[in-house]
Amino acid sequence: MKESIHDIPSLEVAKKRTRNPIIIRHETLEIPYRLREYAKGKRYFVRTYGCQANVVDSETISGILDEIGFVSSQDVENSDVIILNTCAVRENAEDKVFGEVGSLKRIRDLNKKAVIAVCGCMVQEPHIVEALRKKYPQVNLLFGTHNIAHLPSLLDEAIFEEKRVIDITSCEGEVIEDLPLKRQEEFKAFVNIMYGCDKFCTYCIVPYTRGKQRSRTKDAILKEVQDLLNRGYQEVTLLGQNVNAYGKDLKDGESFASLLEDVAKLGVPRIRFTTSHPWDFNDDMIHVIAKYKNIMPFIHLPLQSGSNEILKRMGRRYTIESYLELVDKLRKEIPDLALSTDIIVGFPNESDEDFEATLSAVRKCHYDSAFTFIYSPRVGTPAAKMEDPISRETKGKRFNRLVEALEESISAKAKEYVGKVYDVLVDGVSKKDESMLSGYTEQNKLVNFKGDISYVGKIVPVKIIESHTYSLIGEMVDEKRD
Ligand code: SAH
Ligand code: SF4
Ligand code: F3S
Repeated sequence: MKESIHDIPSLEVAKKRTRNPIIIRHETLEIPYRLREYAKGKRYFVRTYGCQANVVDSETISGILDEIGFVSSQDVENSDVIILNTCAVRENAEDKVFGEVGSLKRIRDLNKKAVIAVCGCMVQEPHIVEALRKKYPQVNLLFGTHNIAHLPSLLDEAIFEEKRVIDITSCEGEVIEDLPLKRQEEFKAFVNIMYGCDKFCTYCIVPYTRGKQRSRTKDAILKEVQDLLNRGYQEVTLLGQNVNAYGKDLKDGESFASLLEDVAKLGVPRIRFTTSHPWDFNDDMIHVIAKYKNIMPFIHLPLQSGSNEILKRMGRRYTIESYLELVDKLRKEIPDLALSTDIIVGFPNESDEDFEATLSAVRKCHYDSAFTFIYSPRVGTPAAKMEDPISRETKGKRFNRLVEALEESISAKAKEYVGKVYDVLVDGVSKKDESMLSGYTEQNKLVNFKGDISYVGKIVPVKIIESHTYSLIGEMVDEKRD
């Protein structure tokens, strides 16, 4: 198949950071007439891997496809445009995508005109693009995280010129406003407050796939939140790779604390935010979180490791002592706080002592939830070049011990909920038991309970009667939370 290459990624370019001011672009989509005509009655399917940044990107992609005139479908088999929005953070995330791309060959065999597209963080990696070009002829569109707004013209070219189209830019990035957004949910929404990341933790690919940190203006964020509130949304999660570094690139005095306060004043029933970097936390933020009842008492605070030596080699910019001090302060000021974390096991040359330090930190922090990962080398990152004599087996054993220690802490925290009443935002019918509803407490704990489907999307008081490690069982009550 002929190729049309608009831009191809480079890690060298992706790594660069300049002092150039951030460009804010207000996008108006230009949709070719023939594409609009073609789209009538045709279906699209979007599969999303990875983090919430990708969830919002998929909402934007769906918004654009809707605007062109395609119709959304849950059925990949009968779709004419299939989009895989991918994640590059670990190798197992990438393996899943290659598996799925492989299986899409059957769709190409049945429908020569189908668009099979791969986008997202994986295609920002040059070696992945090469592999897709060489081994997967069924893929006829590749577009990057900075190229989503080009989707109408890229589709037009792939469909009418029957070429494989590649548009993946490596750059610091812009802030693009006003693209259509098709929200996945009707009462909970993610709102980007910033894009990209400048931290360059030595293991992480995100700064290369997402570009430089770019904060949106406070006005644009408040407008989006106000609009959600007008439409009856109950919960807004402010999103960024380092939400609490918000504003540091704007140089107009804006900060995360003041943004959070202004969002809280709009009166959204529930405000969440993720992910906070321990290094960017300050007292003003803690005071604002403590002051407003509609800012949820839940903080995701990645630890990554409990060893100062490993933290240093990871480039995390904090010590275990300063992390524990921050946790102490948070717990003192926000009494009903729930804490969650990310931990990586098996960073290059992690010693037994380093790992024991992580276990010891876990025991001190009393986490309510956690995500654990085995270190996965990412091409182009500094850690991928570090020597790593530790065997897979040792890493596996450490991983299991870490999960055990965390589950102990998580179960103990879950038991503390029993007998008390919590406000729960009802998400829907429980995935495991259709006779039950499920939802989340303010602390982000999953609760299952009996109730009428009409409560979906509402906040109701639930008394907790039983706890499991990862969920609670409750019953609806009349009283309000104490
Ligand atoms: N910006 C967020 C999230 C980054 S990705 C943050 O800084 O916390 C989510 C998590 O994936 C990270 O917190 C880290 O624990 C994990 N992760 C990132 N790169 C990884 C790698 N190469 N191997 C294993 N886990 C990784
Ligand atoms: Fe990756 Fe570190 Fe940035 Fe998080 S802060 S996205 S772990 S580089
Ligand atoms: Fe994955 Fe990209 Fe998010 S690498 S974790 S989808 S920013």
